[in-house]
Amino acid sequence: MGIISYIKNEIQVIRERDPAIKSNMEVLLYPSFKVILRYRVAHKLYLKKHYFLARWMSQKAARKTGIEIHPGATIGKGLFIDHGSGVIIGETTIIGDNVTLYQGVTLGGTGKEQGKRHPTLKDNVMVSAGAKILGSFTIGENSKIGAGSVVLEEVPPNCTVVGVPGRVVRMGDQKVPRTDMDQIHLPDPVLNDIRELQNDNIRLYKQLKEMERHMRCMLPDDAEFAGNSGNTEEQCSGCIEKEKKEEKSDEII
Ligand SMILES: CC(C)(COP(=O)(O)OP(=O)(O)OC[C@H]1O[C@@H](n2cnc3c(N)ncnc32)[C@H](O)[C@@H]1OP(=O)(O)O)[C@@H](O)C(=O)NCCC(=O)NCCS
Repeated sequence: MGIISYIKNEIQVIRERDPAIKSNMEVLLYPSFKVILRYRVAHKLYLKKHYFLARWMSQKAARKTGIEIHPGATIGKGLFIDHGSGVIIGETTIIGDNVTLYQGVTLGGTGKEQGKRHPTLKDNVMVSAGAKILGSFTIGENSKIGAGSVVLEEVPPNCTVVGVPGRVVRMGDQKVPRTDMDQIHLPDPVLNDIRELQNDNIRLYKQLKEMERHMRCMLPDDAEFAGNSGNTEEQCSGCIEKEKKEEKSDEII
């Protein structure tokens, strides 16, 4: 594609996807326009194994635009990076046609994989501001990744994913039930431990009281118990049971 048709194409892409643009000339001011133009050249250099030159171009563009596209990445037609700052596209990323990325997006690796380490974005995917997609899996056609999400596994086509870690909340036109989506009322492990300790404490206290009553019952009325005189009013459950049985047998007689 010649430079004129490339610019015409970019004007169309940006006008379609950014309502803020007022004139065709403004396209030249977009970091997306500048960086993708340089990426196309750097990618050709990369394919011809001029790795240093390719990286040099991409790093120069990154300093100017805040968008770092590794020249090894494979990018289809109609990519639009809105605003641009802080966007990273890793070496083995594959991007389909008509993909939109917002500021702060990372298409990166986890550091655990070799070879293909970065994601594949199919056609018409939208990745919202600040989202991170980490790993060598695929985001299906027409899927949307919500702002601030961290996506760590494959996303089927036509889905919306939000949250950390990213979960599918919409599939096609259907909302996915949010059984496990509560990100505000998080479990509090310390509070749970305290509650368990409180319950144990109550159980032990009751057992101790019962043992104390049992010992009182076994002592003669005038005997001292733990510094107090024996109290026969408070009887242990064993003695109460025994007394009840005795009363019943008396009634029968
Ligand atoms: C994800 C997004 C694209 C909406 O997609 P959608 O398919 O229309 O999804 P919905 O708006 O129906 O949201 C589905 C659910 O996810 C929740 N949700 C949406 N975006 C979310 C986000 N970024 N983080 C957490 N939850 C989010 C919604 O509250 C809704 O929850 P509910 O089912 O309890 O009501 C949008 O919310 C988003 O993140 N846009 C950001 C765009 C952007 O980056 N703009 C920057 C311009 S500078």
